Amino acid sequence: MNIEIWQGDITRLAVDAIVNAANSSLLGGGGVDGAIHRAAGPELVAHCRTLGGCPTGEARLTPGFRLPARHVIHTVGPVWRGGNHGEPDLLAACYRNSLALAEAHGLASIAFPAISCGIYGYPLEQAAAIAIGELRRPRQSGSSLEKAVLVAFSRDMAVLYERLLSGESPAS
Ligand code: AR6
Repeated sequence: MNIEIWQGDITRLAVDAIVNAANSSLLGGGGVDGAIHRAAGPELVAHCRTLGGCPTGEARLTPGFRLPARHVIHTVGPVWRGGNHGEPDLLAACYRNSLALAEAHGLASIAFPAISCGIYGYPLEQAAAIAIGELRRPRQSGSSLEKAVLVAFSRDMAVLYERLLSGESPAS
């Protein structure tokens, strides 16, 4: 699976699935969640109401409705509470479970926002390292996944992803 970095609004991407950094109600919110619901239209929240929420670290798939993306994979990242409350494992689980769900549906392309890196307060570099670590795990043979896009909303996040993906050490 190829890993790419793209800077911009994830709702514009015509991939098989965009990932939403949701909350456990799955009923919408601010940040990327709000942007995805606005762009998908009211059918998305109506569909999400039938799902009964989603625990932190897990993922749920819905149609993309009015989005250019065919599907939305909703995952719930951890709220950063200092790092000793299972946050790294939960964040890694978001990426792992989203990728597994995409594969279970035979999807080839998936785009991730920086889960937990906004309202939920996860330190950016630690979160980016977890994201890349999970995307780099070898897929099972026969995996449908060909491409994962790391979507950076800011230039700073794009630079951070580029640095970690190219294996450079932090600037001192
Ligand atoms: N496209 C791509 N990335 C975006 C976009 C966008 N349109 N908008 C924001 N980001 P956040 P969280 C980036 O706060 O920290 C919601 O209320 C943003 O710059 O959206 O997981 C949910 O309902 C940041 O890097 O998600 C939850 O309650 C990243 O997306 C809560 O926020 C994630 O920021 C989840 O908080």
